[in-house]
Amino acid sequence: MSNPASPPAVGVLDQGAAATFPPGFLWGAATAAYQIEGAASEGGRTPSIWDTFSHTEGRTVAGHTGDVACDHYHRMPDDVRLMADLGLKSYRFSVSWPRVQPGGSGAVNAEGMDFYQRLVDELLGHGIEPWLTLYHWDLPQPLEDAGGWPARDTAGRFADYAQLVADALGDRVKYFTTFNEPWCSAFLGYGSGVHAPGRSDGADAVRAGHHLMLGHGLAVQALRASRPDAQLGITVNLYPVTPATDSPADADAARRIDALANRFFLDPVLRGAYPADLVADLRRVTDFGHVRDGDLAVISTPLDMVGVNYYSRYVVAAPSETPAAEAYWRAPSCWPGSPDVRFVTRGVPVTDMGWEIDAPGLVETLERVHLDYTDLPLYVTENGSAFVDAVVDGQVDDPDRLAYFDAHLRAAHAAISAGVPLKGYFAWSLIDNFEWAWGYTKRFGMVYVDYDSQARIPKSSARWYADVIRRNGLAA
Ligand code: NOJ
Repeated sequence: MSNPASPPAVGVLDQGAAATFPPGFLWGAATAAYQIEGAASEGGRTPSIWDTFSHTEGRTVAGHTGDVACDHYHRMPDDVRLMADLGLKSYRFSVSWPRVQPGGSGAVNAEGMDFYQRLVDELLGHGIEPWLTLYHWDLPQPLEDAGGWPARDTAGRFADYAQLVADALGDRVKYFTTFNEPWCSAFLGYGSGVHAPGRSDGADAVRAGHHLMLGHGLAVQALRASRPDAQLGITVNLYPVTPATDSPADADAARRIDALANRFFLDPVLRGAYPADLVADLRRVTDFGHVRDGDLAVISTPLDMVGVNYYSRYVVAAPSETPAAEAYWRAPSCWPGSPDVRFVTRGVPVTDMGWEIDAPGLVETLERVHLDYTDLPLYVTENGSAFVDAVVDGQVDDPDRLAYFDAHLRAAHAAISAGVPLKGYFAWSLIDNFEWAWGYTKRFGMVYVDYDSQARIPKSSARWYADVIRRNGLAA
């Protein structure tokens, strides 16, 4: 949590100076299976919760689904060539659980796994380091039918699936992260219900969060035993949480939201305990009876690195009896135990998602993880912005996205200068894709996707990023 004060403006980050990154810095771009692959019912793949959710009326904007998405399943070699043209050193992708283990239990689906075998070989053939995320939100539907993440058994199922992926790909993949943004799976999926599976129950969200972390710990133990050389970690989405004023009530609101958004995951995974204040805040919602002896030791199994996804800052104010009827992550139902905290907008520039642009928040976030939690290597596993793009004469000029990347890379560089062991940065996203409940209406890509023709057009931000990678830093 930040001190009560106005966060610094983006401009303080020494814009314009050259910034060279350490040798070997891992420059990458990221995607996720359901957001780009399509081929939803090909090669033995069975439905995930996102298939069910997106096919349910009213759940996604304009009823968009990932059925076809960017058709990456069929265009993978071309997409890898695109990555090579950009000079990417690494590519962060996720494996679709229902593609490689349909139904979420039992034997591997060879045809589904073959897709990832080919992807990994293609990447390595182009000198691109594969960075594999085991779970980016696509739980096999039968596991949801059996209770989903609020059910303890799902954690064990996940560890089995992780083992099966490591057996197939672990000889060539060095970097594995277990979960992507478990906060979203728990609190958007089971709290507010704006994400799949669309359930809305605070106690279930808290239980889901615990079982996601338990699955993480069990998977790390399994992978460590079978792949001792692998680099193992988790990706969490973190936010500096700043009180709107220096009143004690606003400070307490910030403490509560920080506990739910950040410390809920950081403390168990990196310290082996839930924060006492979080447990107290949640007393009205749950008695934590789902936590068994030994769970926290499993959850805090030692890691090799931590992935941080950073997009924006939260500014919050004291509870109000009439919280605004907000949507998405501001929805009161996302914040069990603290539904009455208000999220404040400061009137600073925002992206097309309405998220405030706050590059200094990245320095704060990385420093916090390093100073308060761990000496482990850190990676920015996602950072990026949605803006409205237009194709003009076959080109897409995206100065706002480029400026966002530039400001956040300067922040990453400032963090390294301050002593943070930041080892890599993955832009979100390589290509425009299915932005969950927003469908295809939000574009995060450095490469434009024409969804009618599936043509890819590198935007000006992509050309700029290629130059950053080539010079291992930012020009003056
Ligand atoms: C976080 C998620 O990991 C990714 O799937 C999503 O598209 C981006 N943030 C943008 O919202």
